[in-house]
Amino acid sequence: MFRFNGKVAIVTGGGRGIGKAISRILASQGAKVAIADLRGDIARETAEEINSAGGQCIAIETDVTNLESVKKMVDMVHQTFGTVDILVNNAGWDQMMLFKDTTPDFWDKIIDINYKGVLNTVYAVMNDMVGKKKGRIISISSDAARVGSTGEAVYSGAKGAIISFSKTMARELARYNITVNVICPGPTETPLVEELKQDSDLGSKILGSMEKIIPLRRMGKPEDIAYAVCFFASDEAGFITGQVLSVSGGLTMC
Ligand SMILES: NC(=O)c1ccc[n+]([C@@H]2O[C@H](COP(=O)([O-])OP(=O)(O)OC[C@H]3O[C@@H](n4cnc5c(N)ncnc54)[C@H](O)[C@@H]3O)[C@@H](O)[C@H]2O)c1
Repeated sequence: MFRFNGKVAIVTGGGRGIGKAISRILASQGAKVAIADLRGDIARETAEEINSAGGQCIAIETDVTNLESVKKMVDMVHQTFGTVDILVNNAGWDQMMLFKDTTPDFWDKIIDINYKGVLNTVYAVMNDMVGKKKGRIISISSDAARVGSTGEAVYSGAKGAIISFSKTMARELARYNITVNVICPGPTETPLVEELKQDSDLGSKILGSMEKIIPLRRMGKPEDIAYAVCFFASDEAGFITGQVLSVSGGLTMC
């Protein structure tokens, strides 16, 4: 379906949820995948699953909010697989509450994981791609960034920042034949969404009734997002850059 033979990919937050599906499908199509996840345990579990299925995958415990941790992870990828061809910025986190109930510490945590994490990885990886005059950077934002989402004010802002940053990087890196694109998932069945439903009445009320308002009448599956990532990562998408794609069953159409 896709041809990633010999390509080296980093997937942040690849231990579970959407990142796990991205890692699994990239590897099944021939990519050598490094899972960079804060949780070493689930990253290793996922890497073992992928390797047992015949893929090539390593797990590297990484905190994307910390540039030193990200640089160490990239060094390890270089030693194991070589320079990076595909970077997937997937790591993210949220907790649903109205903005009036948030605190500055919460703002920092959300911005660090969801936005600064992307700055750190792009900063650490882009020279590989500039050197070979080819590369693919795909970041997972959210439809919350495009249309807003009650209970996710700071998260929506951080995810919006990913879009603006990516468009600028698409311009700056175009001369090196590096494409930079963004995918905005709608509500997708993952461990994070289960936690959001359980953690607050607001989360359970909003996310519990999503299927009724999604035109395709179901929540997204991690694989729905992963196939869109694979498209942007493919050679065939080489003339597409600075774009934002919603994968949401039609929930948003603007
Ligand atoms: N599930 C949805 O409905 C949905 C909708 C829109 C956008 N998204 C976005 O998709 C991405 C994946 O979400 P998911 O639902 O699969 O979440 P998830 O919590 O199930 O998986 C996220 C992974 O990121 C890792 N992670 C968290 N903080 C990290 C850090 N500092 N450094 C490295 N890894 C870290 C976690 O350990 C976890 O393995 C996120 O960016 C999320 O914001 C999800």
